[in-house]
Amino acid sequence: MNTTYIANSTRYDGMKYRYCGHSGVLLPELSLGFWHNFGEVTPEEQSRAIVRAAFDAGITHFDLANNYGPQPGAAESRLGKFLHDDFAAHRDELFISTKAAYDMWEGPYGSWASRKHLIASLNQSLRRLQVDYVDLFYCHRYDPRTPLEETLQTLVDIVRSGKALYVGLSRWPLEASRTGYEYLRQHDVPCLIYQGRLNLFDRAPLEEGVMSAAYEAGAGFISFSPLAQGLLTDRYLNGIPADSRIAHDPRFLKADALTPEVLSRIRKLNDLAAQRGEALATMALSWILHHKEVTSVIIGASSPEQLQRNLACLKSPAFSEEELQKIQDYLKI
Ligand SMILES: NC(=O)c1ccc[n+]([C@@H]2O[C@H](COP(=O)([O-])OP(=O)(O)OC[C@H]3O[C@@H](n4cnc5c(N)ncnc54)[C@H](OP(=O)(O)O)[C@@H]3O)[C@@H](O)[C@H]2O)c1
Repeated sequence: MNTTYIANSTRYDGMKYRYCGHSGVLLPELSLGFWHNFGEVTPEEQSRAIVRAAFDAGITHFDLANNYGPQPGAAESRLGKFLHDDFAAHRDELFISTKAAYDMWEGPYGSWASRKHLIASLNQSLRRLQVDYVDLFYCHRYDPRTPLEETLQTLVDIVRSGKALYVGLSRWPLEASRTGYEYLRQHDVPCLIYQGRLNLFDRAPLEEGVMSAAYEAGAGFISFSPLAQGLLTDRYLNGIPADSRIAHDPRFLKADALTPEVLSRIRKLNDLAAQRGEALATMALSWILHHKEVTSVIIGASSPEQLQRNLACLKSPAFSEEELQKIQDYLKI
């Protein structure tokens, strides 16, 4: 293995790793997400091939949640099987995250961010994943009803119990996230990372100060849906392919997202990417990675080949001021 240490990051073979905030944890610039393509509707061998391709490419970070499926829990169960069958000797080379707070089971304890839900859900996740601990446990969303202190103290206690090594916040509004960083710091369990949606079409964490608040607090930032679920690729330039997410799994991305305005933006961005000598997906990922607050980008992939294509962003040229200005202009409302 060739290791090179550079400023605030490290490179092992082809993959590049960044330190996560002020912690000692290195995360790969590309992480693999399990929201789609790991449920009961996807052939098991397809999921297995994606995970193996990721690991072989140095993608050491797998991002899950209790409810990823379909059915809820299915993605954790599937990864648990792979960890047992394929990765038993590699647990310490992997950084596995999961989350709780979205709807998971029936009744009053199956959702939100009470102590009861978070701890019960994490215990279930550990059983499905067939591991003793996860590396990172997130509160998946802000709960306006549960006192913040209850949620945050639970995160502290989870780390103290050894069931998670680190904790993170996902989709929390700015002020609540600031309170969270402060509470966790004061209790000696600093927040490792904030997970939010950042992509060329959705720049809210950048514009609303969520990313700079994480940075100032010494937490990392990890972006989800970096390709806007596939819109920021060449996938939909000529209609809706039968094997695309819109066609085969339109739970969250539906055909009506492809408005003439969105298609026009995709085409302009696609042309700009071509001028840079790369695919739109590559440019979209490298645009996220060029922000200093970003630790990693969680990609989804429906095949090993797709995942491998997206690794090209690790070698993308830097953006010129002119290119960044063009992107701004294309995305103006
Ligand atoms: N914290 C949260 O609340 C939250 C919410 C959402 C997601 N997440 C995390 O973020 C992860 C990624 O989300 P995402 O799946 O929406 O990410 P994404 O990277 O925006 O979209 C992935 C999809 O885009 C398509 N795609 C990827 N590369 C492509 C390429 N080179 N060319 C053409 N199409 C390509 C594939 O769909 P098809 O091939 O099927 O068309 C792929 O499954 C999730 O798995 C999850 O771990 C977290």
